[in-house]
Amino acid sequence: MYLFNKIIKILIINGPNLNILKEREYFYSQESFKKFKKKINFYSKNIFDIIFFNSNCEGKIINFIQKNKNANWILINPAAYSHYSLSLLDCLKTFKGIIIEIHITNVYKREFFRSKSLISLRSNIIISGMSLDGYFLSIDYIIKKCL
Ligand code: DQA
Repeated sequence: MYLFNKIIKILIINGPNLNILKEREYFYSQESFKKFKKKINFYSKNIFDIIFFNSNCEGKIINFIQKNKNANWILINPAAYSHYSLSLLDCLKTFKGIIIEIHITNVYKREFFRSKSLISLRSNIIISGMSLDGYFLSIDYIIKKCL
C-alpha cells in the first residue's frame, strides 16, 4: 500500500561504525542500530519503497548507490567518509534524486576536522545534531514534499 500515485524509492544508507552505534561515545545513541533499523522500517515501509543499507566499506556503499540509481531520494549518514571520501562524493554527484545528509551529532560543535563534509558539496539538505530523529524527520519531510 502506497500513499502516492507513484512509488517513491528511498535509499537509507549508513557508513562505517554506525552498525555499532551503542558501543560508541554516549552522545551517538543509547539505542542499538538493530532497533533503530527496525523502527525506521516500521515508520516508513507502508508509505515508501525503502531500501536500507549499511557498510563499513566505501566501495560497497558506492556499488550500492550505482546499482540503485533509479531511487528518488537518498538519506545518507556517510559517517567518517563525510570528511574525506572524494569517491563517495563523485558517486553521489551522478545521482539524479534528492540527497539528505544526516549526522546524528552536531558535527560543527565537535573536533575541527568534523566540521567539513565533502559530501555536503552535493547534498541538497543537511541535518546535523538531531540524534536519530534526523532520519524520522527526513521521512516526514519527504511525505510533505510528495503530497
Ligand atoms: C557522524 C559524525 C562523523 O564525524 C562520525 O565520523 C560518525 C558519525 C554523525 O552521525 O554524527 O561516524 O556522521
